Parts: sequence; structure tokens; C-alpha cells
Amino acid sequence: MEKFFEKLDLSLKTNSIIKMTLSKPVSKNNELRNVYVKPILLKDNKMYQFTFRYERRDETKNFDAKQTFDQVKNLVPEVFQNVSLFTLTEDVTLLVSKKGKPTLMCKKINEKREADLSHDHEKQRLIDPTNPWWHLLGLTTRDGKVMADMQHKFKQICKYVEIVDGVMRQTKFDDEVHIADMGAGKGYLTFALYEYLMKNYDKKIMMEGVEIRKDLVLKINDIIAKCNLKNFRFIENSIEDYKPTNLDVLIALHACDTATDDAILKGIRNNAKLIICAPCCHKQVRREMEKSSKFDSITKYGIFLERQAVMITDAVRALVLEYCGYKTQVMEFIEYDNTPKNVLLVGRKSEKAIDKERVAKEIKNLLDQYGVGEHYLWKNLWKNCRTY
Ligand SMILES: C[S@@+](CC[C@H](N)C(=O)[O-])C[C@H]1O[C@@H](n2cnc3c(N)ncnc32)[C@H](O)[C@@H]1O
Repeated sequence: MEKFFEKLDLSLKTNSIIKMTLSKPVSKNNELRNVYVKPILLKDNKMYQFTFRYERRDETKNFDAKQTFDQVKNLVPEVFQNVSLFTLTEDVTLLVSKKGKPTLMCKKINEKREADLSHDHEKQRLIDPTNPWWHLLGLTTRDGKVMADMQHKFKQICKYVEIVDGVMRQTKFDDEVHIADMGAGKGYLTFALYEYLMKNYDKKIMMEGVEIRKDLVLKINDIIAKCNLKNFRFIENSIEDYKPTNLDVLIALHACDTATDDAILKGIRNNAKLIICAPCCHKQVRREMEKSSKFDSITKYGIFLERQAVMITDAVRALVLEYCGYKTQVMEFIEYDNTPKNVLLVGRKSEKAIDKERVAKEIKNLLDQYGVGEHYLWKNLWKNCRTY
């Protein structure tokens, strides 16, 4: 063990770490599954970016070399039994047995290696702003520069693509991937994902935006035609009435209130492999919560009522996805912007058997506790359908 920490110390002092992973939690109940560490440059200072991977979310923090050493010291072997340290000259693996016996394996590296010091923010742009559709959509100037008042939007778009790419890469698809973006609005995120996947994915992408506003649909389809983009179209339809022929990935970002539920339902009914949504307003559950419950002392304050309504609406959505056989994650979508709209619900269809009775009980208990008589999604799951 001592030898491992000597090597870690040396590699920190000599700036030779490429990456490091802490894995195999000591306790099966540990919510923290693993930790991924990579060096980054922050304002010319060498730092280490830790990604703490929890069961249902990731958390990223940056530490200097000393803090990095202390972090690892705190986590190994108390929390994690395995560490893989990759340096410029050596791969080092520490394995700690259940009885606490450490084994250290070291492998010298002969080939020349380099560390990738790019910070997530500085990563090569995932989206090319010089593509003509960005100008036609109103995000860039004629010569492909992101307009000053669109910089923030553009950053969000890149972040969105990065997240969805990560999620999609963990999902198995056939050669053709049918994606529907429901409540697609002005189409920024739909174009972004289309552009990214067409450039970086080796599968055939079939993209449909579903939008109820005719003016937007006409405008977007005109841009698609002008740019000669294939297998991409906007459809004027309500989410409720949209009938996809195939649906692998359902996306619904900030579709208003219960439109998010309709979208999730569409994904479930069409057996989508992946359901990704960023909920918007939560009026339906909020109205239900205005009735009395044992949490009146909290919810009598408008802002807390609002926040509780958000949590309950989305927690039930996540549970309904679980109930329908989706492994579900709730993650932060974009940076906090004084808006509660920064949550992303991701459901990935799983083969694993699910204890439906337990999940149904969880949903019922949650709704009962907060005096919510009806949750739109949970209620409508049963409409015209007896199999759930
Ligand atoms: C807040 S915008 C979000 C646009 C886009 N997804 C984004 O995140 O940038 C919501 C869009 O959903 C559309 N919408 C709301 N309810 C809908 C429904 N039931 N069916 C289809 N579109 C709907 C609205 O017209 C609006 O353009």
C-alpha cells in the first residue's frame, strides 16, 4: 500500500499522470460507484479533475496535486479496493482483497504517451458554428461567428450534445437509429444532435422533430431543405397524436408541463431504448399539492411548494420509467441558471426483471404523503392499456 502511495506521490510531483480510476467499492451499498481522475489545465495551473460517479448522477470537482493525494488516501482502501493509475511511464494497479491484503502490479510502458490536459470547457467544439443552418436558425453571423447574445445558448447546445452522446454510447442500437425530439421548438437542440451524430456516429440517423406550432415547423423544414439535410424533418403535430413508425430515442426538452408526460408515455408505448427528457413547468402536480397534506408547514410557502412540486413530479416520472423496465438516472442538465429546469431524466431500457409491485408502492406512497391525488403520467400509463 505504501509503495502505491509513493508511486502516486511521485507521479503527481513529476506531472506524469494520464488518468486514474478508483473502483470496486468496499460496501455494496455505497452509492458512489467509482471515481475517475484526469489531469487538466485550469488557467495554466495543473489540476486534477475528479468525476465522482454515483449510481444516478456524476459530480465533478477539481483538486490540486496535494488535495488529489489526500483524496485518494481518504478513499483507498476505506471506500475503494482497486486503483488503476496510468502514468507516462508505467501502469500501476493496486488491488486490495476483502481481508485488506494489498497487491501491487506495475507495468513499465515503452511507447511514448501524452496526457490530454483539456478541460471539458475547452474541448474541441462539438458543434461547428460555421455550418449554414446555424446562421439560418439565427445563432451565428453570416461568417459563422456565434452572436454575442447567443453565446450562452451555444454553450448549452454543446453541453447537451456531450451529455446525450455519452448516454447514447452506453446504449445498443441497430444500424438505423430513429430519434424523435418532441416539443422541438426552434430546433436548436435537434439540429445540434443531428449534426453531431451525423459527423461522429457510424449508424444511420433518422431524426424527426415534433412540434405543434405550424410557423416553426414550416421555418425549420425550409432550413432543412435549403441545407439539403437528409433523413431529417419536422412534423407539425401534437405529441399526443404523433405516431412514430420506429422510435429508438425519445427526446423531450422543456416540453411544457404534461407534454413531457405525453412524450415519456410515447417513448414507453413505442418501446424506445432511450428516453431523455428535461422537464419544464410542473403545474399539474403543483395544483394537486395546493390541497392539504402533512407537509403544509413547508408548502404554505409558495417557493417551497414550487420546488416540492418539481421534485415530486420528476421523481414519479423517474419511478414510472423504472416501473416500465427502464434503468433511470436523474442528472444535472445544464449549469444552474436560477431555474429548476436543469434536470435531465434518462431512462435506458433494461433487460433486468423489475419488482413492479415495489415500485408501484413507492409511487403510491410518495403521492399519498404529499396529498397528490393524481399524477398525469402514472394515471395515463393505464389508459387504453391493461398490460402494465
Ligand atoms: C420551451 S419550448 C422547448 C423547445 C426545445 N425543445 C428546447 O429545449 O429548446 C417547448 C416547445 O414545445 C412545444 N409543445 C408544447 N406542448 C406540445 C405538445 N403537446 N405537442 C407538441 N409540441 C408541444 C411548444 O410549442 C414549444 O415550441
